[in-house]
Amino acid sequence: MRPRSLTVRLVLAVVLFSLCALHVCENQESRLLKDLMSGYNKRIRPARQPGDKVQVQVKLTLTNLISLNEKEEALTTNVWIEIQWNDYRLAWNSSEHDDISVVRVPYNMVWLPDIVLENNIDGKFDVAYYANVLIHPDGSMYWLPPAIYRSACSVEVTYFPFDWQNCTLVFRSQTYSANEIDIILAVDTGKTIEWVDIDPEAFTENGEWAIRHRPARKVINRRYTPDDLEYQEVHFNLIIQRKPLFYIINIIVPCVLISSLVVLAYFLPAQAGGQKLTVSISVLLAQTVFLFLIAQQIPETSLSVPLIGKYLIFSMFVATLIVTNCVIVLNISLRSPNTHTMSHGIRHLHLSHTCQTPAVHILHLSHSIHTPVAYVGTTASLYKSLAHCAPEIKECVDACNFIAQSTREQNDIGSEMESWVLIGKMIDKVCFWAAILLFSIGTIGIFLMGHYNNVPEYPFPGENKKYAPN
Ligand SMILES: *[C@@H]1O[C@H](CO)[C@@H](O)[C@H](O)[C@H]1NC(C)=O
Ligand SMILES: *[C@@H]1O[C@H](CO)[C@@H](O)[C@H](O)[C@H]1NC(C)=O
Repeated sequence: MRPRSLTVRLVLAVVLFSLCALHVCENQESRLLKDLMSGYNKRIRPARQPGDKVQVQVKLTLTNLISLNEKEEALTTNVWIEIQWNDYRLAWNSSEHDDISVVRVPYNMVWLPDIVLENNIDGKFDVAYYANVLIHPDGSMYWLPPAIYRSACSVEVTYFPFDWQNCTLVFRSQTYSANEIDIILAVDTGKTIEWVDIDPEAFTENGEWAIRHRPARKVINRRYTPDDLEYQEVHFNLIIQRKPLFYIINIIVPCVLISSLVVLAYFLPAQAGGQKLTVSISVLLAQTVFLFLIAQQIPETSLSVPLIGKYLIFSMFVATLIVTNCVIVLNISLRSPNTHTMSHGIRHLHLSHTCQTPAVHILHLSHSIHTPVAYVGTTASLYKSLAHCAPEIKECVDACNFIAQSTREQNDIGSEMESWVLIGKMIDKVCFWAAILLFSIGTIGIFLMGHYNNVPEYPFPGENKKYAPN
């Protein structure tokens, strides 16, 4: 029995060994890979004939619009870039290989079409993580690496913070010309995907920007020949609109409120003197602070002035006008007969404008008191006869006259100073309404301009096409 069982074991071992040598006990997938990779050169383009073009399909899936930095004019996006092509050298017959329908290989084992982000701003052309490449039995290759791209995006600040921006991600092959590969947009069930794909479940909405259009298209630059790498490109546009609430709450409302305080300077009486100026100059200073805040937000461009900057400059202009106005009014209100004579024209204008105000009565009264013309003749003759018979009484009357005279002069001075104040008040009143009108029309006009700055209905002017999934 013993020697027989030994022979059986020996025979079994020999059979097993020979089976392994025939690749039966080896892992099917590694055997397949070994088959595929034998004689494969990843540096060579998968074209059967030298003139053949390799068709490369590109699709961009946006998972997160991270930010748009206005100052650096950089758009940061988190995307998946899906690249598909066919490598005939890596096809296999799945019925000969245990029905293996896909193999995954590291990216550096196979040929890649070298598609990169051309308009990056940080020298990072590449993807963030080199995922594996999927190979299907018919040789079709599928590569879906994730990437965080920082692309250049020229920011148009004219309507800031009611602006929309048009950012482009430009992809092209860094190595192969249009004679060697043909970059096209991905095709899904017979339909070209002419948009940046967004998976609602994976997508994180940006707090500052709303995506309005996201067209994708292949662009042929006719300035170049097909031998140039710049000849064919795939452009993915993101047309995004700013959600302005943040700026409305943090800049616009405080700025409008502070600026509107400046008209209060008109309500201060002339006696307040310098206080009138203090109010308007404080507002002017506060506006400078806002201007500084805004300057930190927007790119340093002299090409255009942002809307909010225009508004601040406008309100600073109004504040300056009001300061000037206050100084002039103070100069008029605080005049006295000793330093200025009121010309007849002004007095007339003043009287005709203030006929209804009770203050005028004082003026009229003071005028009527010291001109009793008919009285003069009789008083003078009485005075003469009195002086003749009683010099004491004359002295007394002289003294009385003197008192009356100086009181009258005092009254005159007082009433004329009062008229200057009233003239100042009148100017203030007119200018107050003018300033209110100017300020509100300017404010409403400037912000309406922003309100009507909407994203165009179609992503490309002159093309009535939405470039969006239905
Ligand atoms: C795959 O292999 C099977 C079995 O060897 C064969 O019948 C079939 O024709 C092959 N298919 C192709 C596409 O070569
Ligand atoms: C956005 O920019 C592209 C160029 O990259 C241009 O063709 C397109 O017309 C622009 N869209 C709008 C709405 O301005």
